[in-house]
Amino acid sequence: MGVRLMTVNPVVPYSITPHRSVPAQIQPPEYVGKKAPTPYSGSNVATPETIEKMRESGRIAHLAILEGAKHIAPGVTTDAIDAVIHEFICDNGGYPSTLGYRGFPKSCCTSVNEVICHGIPDLRPLEDGDLVKIDVTVFKNGVHGDNCMTFGCGTLDQASADLMTRTQEAMNRGIKAVKPGRQLNVIGRVIEAYAHRFGYGVVRDYTGHGINTSFHSGLIILHYDAPALTTVIEEGMTFTIEPMLTLGDYRSNVWDDDWTVVTNDLSRCAQFEQTIVVRRDGAEILTAP
Ligand code: MF3
Ligand code: CO
Ligand code: CO
Repeated sequence: MGVRLMTVNPVVPYSITPHRSVPAQIQPPEYVGKKAPTPYSGSNVATPETIEKMRESGRIAHLAILEGAKHIAPGVTTDAIDAVIHEFICDNGGYPSTLGYRGFPKSCCTSVNEVICHGIPDLRPLEDGDLVKIDVTVFKNGVHGDNCMTFGCGTLDQASADLMTRTQEAMNRGIKAVKPGRQLNVIGRVIEAYAHRFGYGVVRDYTGHGINTSFHSGLIILHYDAPALTTVIEEGMTFTIEPMLTLGDYRSNVWDDDWTVVTNDLSRCAQFEQTIVVRRDGAEILTAP
């Protein structure tokens, strides 16, 4: 029998718990309560003040993921992980950027197995062997920091464990390729070249993005080789690098909830994301402890 790429038990939707409140003194982003964010029209190069504030938002996002990940275990629901993350962010004076973003109902994205991204935390209990992506964005002092990591629940099969470590390595290679004066396409080129060594799919329908006072500024970062993406990388630019690699097909579908993105062939997916700022000698990670 060949390599099994198909998930044996596909992830299915479970109930979503009621809206969690945010303390009144925490400033929400402008898009909360609206259908969509106001389009960003500012610079892709952030001011030193914005960069410093993003380091704080990024740090909280990163630590929130680690806090949530402590609870990953068979039987624990992704909703319970969301509760931990929500509380951690609020306790640190931040607003969970996904909560109320285009109507997204929760404080992080939890994307399990064949779910590529934008999974809604719900009452599905995690199972032994699940591959769990936690993506957290924090808004504080008027700026966002966006971070995602993949974890195993219980014991991972070897193919999933390899996918996880190699996706992190792919992201790191993309980050290392960032230098002022190069074109943005260098990032996807190194990520895709590395992913293809292992026959992995590289998701194209979801991308990295500029981020600053705006969650998604309009600047697009592709994780595959796209020579037409000739925008020159400049010192002070702030954006995410967040490759999604799959064990099979890179193409995706969206569930009827209009959020949950899954691979076409139900093959598993891993993702890592960092928010970076471009410095004279390369990228500095803002989503660091
Ligand atoms: N954090 C995701 C990203 O990396 C965006 C999530 S938006 C949501 O861009 F609405 F799905 F939460
Ligand atoms: Co992002
Ligand atoms: Co994210």
